[in-house]
Amino acid sequence: MLVTLLSLPIVGGSTRAADRLASRGFERASPAPFASGPRDLIVVCHRTPVKVAQGRFRLDNLPDGRVDLLARCASAAIFTSHGVRRETRLWLALQDQSVCLCLDGSTARGMHPDERTLAAAMKRTLAVEHGATSRADTANGWSYHAGGLEHRLRELRQQRPVSRGPRPILQLHEDGEATLQALLAAGAVLVLGDQLGFTSGEEALLASAGARRATVSPRGLLTSHCIVLAHHALDEAEARVGLAASPVE
Ligand SMILES: C[S@@+](CC[C@H](N)C(=O)[O-])C[C@H]1O[C@@H](n2cnc3c(N)ncnc32)[C@H](O)[C@@H]1O
Repeated sequence: MLVTLLSLPIVGGSTRAADRLASRGFERASPAPFASGPRDLIVVCHRTPVKVAQGRFRLDNLPDGRVDLLARCASAAIFTSHGVRRETRLWLALQDQSVCLCLDGSTARGMHPDERTLAAAMKRTLAVEHGATSRADTANGWSYHAGGLEHRLRELRQQRPVSRGPRPILQLHEDGEATLQALLAAGAVLVLGDQLGFTSGEEALLASAGARRATVSPRGLLTSHCIVLAHHALDEAEARVGLAASPVE
């Protein structure tokens, strides 16, 4: 079965149709406030097959290699009802391959919130990184970065004025003691697990980086649903800050 999948052409008819859709896009951008700085969300992904990391997966079988989960997280992270969250960056840390795929809302172009279109965009970005010919619409907000979770944490924590110190890290976890209120910590980097959660090595890494565990529900939820709840908490917090800053009539 694996041999059969690997021998399939990278670009099939269905891929081209999804590519065309991806290149037309969800162009309207919501003018999102940057009150608390960029929202960086890292999803730690495991057991990503090489064929997925190299963009050699089929758009008509997204659960294979859990591309469906990656695409759902991208949809939950970046889209609002009629626009794109310009202030959000989603980092999909493909741990087994030691690389990250990033969707940056500030540069996202030609995106639609459906899983297939997002998967097509991911596939293009990954395939170009592995030798496929680049096209004008490959630069659509997705980018490829060497290094997994450890690398990303080191980099993102420093992305603020040095005088304000490193950004806090919040690990979303079912057993977290902190509640969503902890998300109000300005500029926190949020880290979520995939369907497998976190490995003991990742738990240790997060602990050594001083991550706090925060919970969003008494129930175990899907990663993409946790992203929506985290956005909700941050949106509410920003709205409160905005209201407090507005002059009284
Ligand atoms: C499907 S869950 C992982 C389930 C996995 N079997 C485990 O035991 O960790 C995916 C991720 O969503 C986040 N998550 C799920 N439920 C949560 C909750 N109630 N509060 C905070 N984060 C949660 C965590 O980051 C988790 O790793």
